[in-house]
Amino acid sequence: MEEGIRQMIVCVCRRVSDRDIERLARSGCASFDELQMELGVATCCGQCADCARKTLTASLRHEPSTAHHMESVEMALA
Ligand code: FES
Repeated sequence: MEEGIRQMIVCVCRRVSDRDIERLARSGCASFDELQMELGVATCCGQCADCARKTLTASLRHEPSTAHHMESVEMALA
């Protein structure tokens, strides 16, 4: 975990952040199914599915995470 970097929690159930998704995209994850298998996002209540998909898409396009612009649970992990 990177210290001092603000993260947006995308999946509360599995405690997966936008940074976790971006990191996985950089390591080669290119599909939502793979994202679910690796991190477990959207495998519990499913409320995070849209945000997780958008974050993955933005990461694959090397755009800033859309999670920063969405209402979600925000927490700074220091
Ligand atoms: S918030 Fe992601 S499965 Fe519930």
